[in-house]
Amino acid sequence: MRHLLSTRDLPREDAIRLLDIAEDMADVQDREVKKLPTLRGKTVVNLFFEDSTRTRISFEAAAKRLSADVINFSAKGSSVSKGESLKDTAQTLQAMGADAVVIRHGSSGAPQTLATSGWIDAGIVNAGDGTHEHPTQALLDAFTMRRRLHGTASRGKDLDGVSVAIVGDIVHSRVARSNVWLLRTLGAHVTLVAPPTLLPVDVSGWPATVGYDLDAAIAAGPDVVMMLRIQAERMNAAFFPNTREYSRRWGLDEERLGRLRADSIVMHPGPMNRGLEISAAAADSPRSTVREQVANGVSVRMAALYLLLSGANTEQVRPGGVR
Ligand code: ASP
Ligand code: CP
Repeated sequence: MRHLLSTRDLPREDAIRLLDIAEDMADVQDREVKKLPTLRGKTVVNLFFEDSTRTRISFEAAAKRLSADVINFSAKGSSVSKGESLKDTAQTLQAMGADAVVIRHGSSGAPQTLATSGWIDAGIVNAGDGTHEHPTQALLDAFTMRRRLHGTASRGKDLDGVSVAIVGDIVHSRVARSNVWLLRTLGAHVTLVAPPTLLPVDVSGWPATVGYDLDAAIAAGPDVVMMLRIQAERMNAAFFPNTREYSRRWGLDEERLGRLRADSIVMHPGPMNRGLEISAAAADSPRSTVREQVANGVSVRMAALYLLLSGANTEQVRPGGVR
């Protein structure tokens, strides 16, 4: 794997392979010594033009647990404020020896530009670009679903027949887009649930059904309910009447939580707006996987960096056997 830019064009076998390697990485996390020497001598640059807690820290933890050197760059406080371009910023990092660049950017397509422009040679990982994609989030979500559904026997498995309702601010969500494509590839069925104003104008090409009624979606008994954050920072107009009205109609409150199938799970990529799209009762309930998703993010990002930087072929990928 040279770059990881999107899930839309990620073949099924590559996705399953990455999830299986993430299982091996998760096993390493359970050991007393959590570190592998696999990427010793490699340098991973976290290049963040947008704010992040989970993604940036988990890429840093992932790289360090694989013994890579990590350079954290955040646009705030950098020479970007003096007008330095993406090209010059990237080439500066390349000159410092970056082998992989993990980039989050407000513009959809920025990671693709870095990967195809020829400006730098490093492997590129998309850590969220505008409203386009957030592939490692979808992979950690799939990993979490697979583990919850298949338990310890999840290696090699996909999500065939699993039903997932993705609820909320779809229009601004790169998490929704990456999930829709990956879940299709893995055989799951997706229903998008949102007010019409928070759905993209044309979803006819999306492999998903659309609904506007959360209660109907819950009555259908999905295996997974994935709540999305209302992304106020991307809204330049009123997308719904007011927050009370939104949480009344599209929020996962305690009463709706009680109507979910007993074995269904509640996901949220974070950060959460508690009391808006998700109640504290739902976020903290035993069926919530929010913290599991964060923990799984480290294993999945270790697997992604491993595939990008170790030059691994399919025979070499078991960390237990990695020198
Ligand atoms: N953290 C995720 C993202 O950056 C989801 C969100 O911010 O709501 O896309
Ligand atoms: N889920 C997610 O990407 O979180 P951050 O924005 O905190 O990285």
